[in-house]
Amino acid sequence: MPLDQSTYKIPVARTVADLRETVSAWRAAGLRIGFVPTMGALHEGHLSLVDLAAQHADKVVVSIFVNPTQFAPEEDLEAYPRTEPDDAAKLAKRPSDLIFGPNAAEMYPEGYDLQINVGGVSEGLETDHRPHFFGGVATVVAKLLCQVAPDVAIFGEKDYQQLQVIKKLVRDLSLPVEIIGGATGREADGLAMSSRNVYLTEDERARAVQLSAALKAVHDQMKSGATIDAARDLGLSILRAAGFDPIDYLEVRDADTLAPLSNTSRRARILAAAKLGTTRLIDNIDLEI
Ligand code: PAF
Repeated sequence: MPLDQSTYKIPVARTVADLRETVSAWRAAGLRIGFVPTMGALHEGHLSLVDLAAQHADKVVVSIFVNPTQFAPEEDLEAYPRTEPDDAAKLAKRPSDLIFGPNAAEMYPEGYDLQINVGGVSEGLETDHRPHFFGGVATVVAKLLCQVAPDVAIFGEKDYQQLQVIKKLVRDLSLPVEIIGGATGREADGLAMSSRNVYLTEDERARAVQLSAALKAVHDQMKSGATIDAARDLGLSILRAAGFDPIDYLEVRDADTLAPLSNTSRRARILAAAKLGTTRLIDNIDLEI
């Protein structure tokens, strides 16, 4: 199938073969390739990652693939927003050069079996609540990195544990790609941008801001000398008062290993995941210690 040059203002590769043909030509011309993997439903947070990729590369590939293997059967795979024409229109206004938009059969052909388990930093936090998640993410990202073969790939810090999992994946597989984290895009009131925010009702959207407020409260408490337990208690009370239920976790962890803080920890990360109505939100912030 040739590259689709006509549907959108930006070319789309639907197959790995077409993707490789374009990227190989760029590489043969001595160009540096940047990559931003996404599941579409693009918002300003994603687009800022595209801008960041362009600062590190001559050509930027953006993949749009709602990866079924990172959703559990009871999760929102069917309902997940699919807005490819809108996504392409947004990308056409940013420094992006190619969309890779495969279908599930292209990514997981008949007989596909490989599943990657990253271990280490993928254990705990998200995995305690979504045990399938990082296996699906690591596997699809490993495939995408092999398919695109970029020099640099950008992942949002909003999914902070995912970013650490990808760094470990790349290290453990010796993949020749630099992984860079992009700052979390935030709405004016502080809510982390997420494709899932569209699920929030008006009332939930108003209360959702308390997730970033709780992280900030934990941060400020820790900075003024409170213990982790005392700081967490305050954060949890803010989340409960806003109606978050269940609160999957609110933790202060080592920023690199995501293990509990130790004497050797140089930086910390405050991470939380909780549900508001049917929508699960996650967020995290840095804590200098
Ligand atoms: O963060 C996401 O959007 C997804 O987990 C990713 C990295 C594109 C893999 O499907």
